[in-house]
Amino acid sequence: MKILLTGGTGYIGSHTAIDLIENGNDIVIVDNLSNSSKEVINRLNKITKTKVPFYESDIRNKSKLEEIFEQEKPDAVIHFAGLKAVGESVEQPLKYYSNNLETSLVLLDVMSKFDVNKIVFSSSATVCGTPKKLPITESDQAGVGITNPYGWTKFMIEQILTDIAAANPNFEVTILRYFNPVGAHKSGLIGEDPNGIPNNLLPYITQVAVGRLAKVGVFGNDYNTPDGTGVRDYIHVMDLASGHTAALNHSKPGVAIYNLCSGKGVSVLELIDAFSKAAGKSIPYEITDRRPGDIAASYADASKAKKELNWQTVYSIKQACADSWKWQSNNPNGFAD
Ligand code: NAD
Ligand code: UD1
Repeated sequence: MKILLTGGTGYIGSHTAIDLIENGNDIVIVDNLSNSSKEVINRLNKITKTKVPFYESDIRNKSKLEEIFEQEKPDAVIHFAGLKAVGESVEQPLKYYSNNLETSLVLLDVMSKFDVNKIVFSSSATVCGTPKKLPITESDQAGVGITNPYGWTKFMIEQILTDIAAANPNFEVTILRYFNPVGAHKSGLIGEDPNGIPNNLLPYITQVAVGRLAKVGVFGNDYNTPDGTGVRDYIHVMDLASGHTAALNHSKPGVAIYNLCSGKGVSVLELIDAFSKAAGKSIPYEITDRRPGDIAASYADASKAKKELNWQTVYSIKQACADSWKWQSNNPNGFAD
């Protein structure tokens, strides 16, 4: 199968590219590099010992995207491209609605024109809002209590895909709701490289470990959780990657939604501890105020993906920490090194 990856030079797309190639697929990447580096392609070529076709283009540039479809003739699309910084989406909502919705609308239009009927979409745990019960399942009501424009774009795109599938009986949609991706490819050649100060916990920890930041702020220790700090469902990015390959292999007409998660909750202090052990160095931290909008705990039930996609996580938190450390210590300044 030939798969077009929008946003494929980003963190999750680049790791998924490896899994797809290792499982015998051809890929083509389209990315405008607004949040990634062209160096990713060199690294992918090295890891996979292939030459990954890459087009530097904005998905919203429809005529260019049509040219790429004409040239590459993909069988399926994985749609990673989008902006993802929650805080920025609150400050600049139009930027988020415009980029995330327009990329999806242009892409779907071009797919329809070229009769490409298979799509896997990068959605997020954030569409589940504040969960009424844990673990979260796919049948829990989504779209209630979403607290930011980023999350709304994900929910709206889920709805758009659902409506298109209802109108076109040949259309195959898989919506993957990612929980908290962590880790890196075992080579240490690619990994997460956020712009500016990281918003997310593990990249913050790795930048403290490498000396770019002084200490981790632990956002509250008075939550109703075992140690009082926030609990999340961390998933190794290579497990997430294999979830995409499984989704494509099991794709069928209609809409299927899966949580890609480990099923286990890990607290902030537990993650700091696991990382300290993996990196062999202590990580300074201090307890600070809660971050506005944060919830106490979020973890999900992974059994639907196991049953229907024959997919499950294989990597531990320990491995994710070791792989993140390998990436960050080999590339202290990310792809700028
Ligand atoms: P990322 O920012 O590393 O990758 C996204 C890629 O999309 C970037 O390379 C960026 O340059 C590209 N892009 C953005 N707008 C584009 C446009 N208009 N045209 C072409 N390319 C464009 O993010 P990621 O962590 O790899 O996330 C991938 C997808 O998964 C995103 O849709 C994100 O919202 C979603 N997601 C991520 C997380 C997470 O915690 N990382 C969690 C849930 C969902
Ligand atoms: C993030 C996204 C959310 C997405 C989810 C899963 C943000 C603000 N939200 O949230 O939309 O659905 O991932 O992909 O990016 N923490 C600290 N100190 C830090 C950073 C984080 O203590 O410096 C804590 C947080 O309070 C939380 C945990 O660590 O308890 C994880 O935080 P983070 O990595 O930002 O992920 P989410 O809050 O789950």
